[in-house]
Amino acid sequence: MAFDKRILCIGAGYVGGPTMAMIADKCPTYKITVVDINPARIAAWNSPNLPIFEPGLDEVVQRARGRNLFFSTDVDAGILEADIIFVSVNTPTKTFGQGSGMASDLQYLEKTARQIMRVSQGPKIVVEKSTLPVRTAEALDHILNSNDKGIRFEIVSNPEFLAEGTAIRDLQNPDRVLIGHHQTESGKVAGQAVVDIYAHWVPADRILTTNVWSSELTKLTANAFLAQRVSSINSISALCERTGADVEEVAQVIGRDSRIGNKFLKASIGFGGSCFKKDILNLAYLCQHYGLPEVASYWKSVVDINEWQQHRMVGRMLEQMFNTLAGKRIAVFGFAFKADTGDTRESPAHTVVRDLLAERACPVITDPKAMKEAQHDLADVLSLVQFSDDPYEAANGAHAVIVCTEWAQFRTLDWKRVYASMEKPAFLLDGRNILDLSALRAIGFEVQCVGKG
Ligand code: NAD
Ligand code: UDX
Repeated sequence: MAFDKRILCIGAGYVGGPTMAMIADKCPTYKITVVDINPARIAAWNSPNLPIFEPGLDEVVQRARGRNLFFSTDVDAGILEADIIFVSVNTPTKTFGQGSGMASDLQYLEKTARQIMRVSQGPKIVVEKSTLPVRTAEALDHILNSNDKGIRFEIVSNPEFLAEGTAIRDLQNPDRVLIGHHQTESGKVAGQAVVDIYAHWVPADRILTTNVWSSELTKLTANAFLAQRVSSINSISALCERTGADVEEVAQVIGRDSRIGNKFLKASIGFGGSCFKKDILNLAYLCQHYGLPEVASYWKSVVDINEWQQHRMVGRMLEQMFNTLAGKRIAVFGFAFKADTGDTRESPAHTVVRDLLAERACPVITDPKAMKEAQHDLADVLSLVQFSDDPYEAANGAHAVIVCTEWAQFRTLDWKRVYASMEKPAFLLDGRNILDLSALRAIGFEVQCVGKG
């Protein structure tokens, strides 16, 4: 079949895979190829067991795969034939050298840019889909357009706002799509080419265009604002616990102020995920770089409060459980960083388990989707941690349960059965405020949650 356009995505991860599957589904006359240097990941995308768990993803992939959606490890072939190349490689926090622990590690992005430059035989639009420091497009422009073949590359920024667990819903019905392009004639044409893709299903008034720098910075700002709300409500949760106020009541009432809004006000054991911490640290690093240390420390405090919130959970258990957790079996319910994903990157459960180990407790982890990831993350302490697919088995003989992920399954457990199998007194810390605490107290549990005294 002759396709109208050929789109390549470099990076078949949590963003590249679902985003391109949605574009393929909505644009059947476009050929969409997703490439990755990780052969196991590509093999999984081509198999019935996709490499990531995301509600609704299987159906979208099944409709398009083999028709106009292809997954491959042949990056060069993909580059050669593409008109538009989305770059969706990982941009983790740098762990070495200048900016270590804060700046973005751009080595994968730069390698990709150099490969595009080396392999291309004609002009292409290169789209930044990864989350990047503001002004990265300048570096991409510099590298790509230093080619000696006379080929002109246009850089467009199109950051992704999907959240894991709701990626398909977010892609299908986005609040907005952001496209940043240079204000030159060729920049506008390139920006329009990317607008045309989304216009297949996104209403025109939700496709926003800006200059490239605004687009790059908007992505970091959006994540910083979202994370800031979680840290704000979590900071108040601690004060609620000391004063007898109830954080859910506080959140509900402030959320009724239309200027504040009611979303992202759920107190928790802290935010996790691959984006918030990394992107805020990157933002803070940029502020420092541009001579704005006060702005840097303002945003850094959002991450500091989050780390404090994560760490104070085991402290609360310790206090309630007679100041010793040594040798006690503790069931950890949930290891994913949020429900409906198997992703455990920066999961608060990780901090909880490490803190439990520091107290010489014996954690037993259960999670409906993230058991393999949990074992991978805890590879260095495997002999000290147990894993069970069955929450009843995990809680059997435990002194306490700590709920780390808000999986719907945990709400509907037979909590009487859980209680009966535990050591007494049976302690429970609901780190997500998802359980019916009065029902649990009636069963006999000694219960704590977040933000209620
Ligand atoms: P990921 O680690 O799941 O996927 C990135 C993929 O890129 C990996 O499979 C890796 O093998 C591949 N890759 C790296 N270098 C490559 C190269 N030179 N050639 C081909 N493939 C290469 O990461 P992700 O979660 O999909 O995130 C990708 C980007 O999107 C990041 O910048 C992230 O900040 C941003 N983002 C992520 C989310 C999210 O929810 N995960 C949301 C919005 C934006
Ligand atoms: C986030 C952004 O929401 C998304 O727009 C961006 O593209 C990527 O980063 P993600 O990290 O996948 O998405 O999930 P999100 O729903 O934002 O949750 C992040 C963390 O915050 C999770 O650990 C979640 O449990 C926690 N959270 C969220 C709270 O603790 N309370 C809330 O009210 C909301």
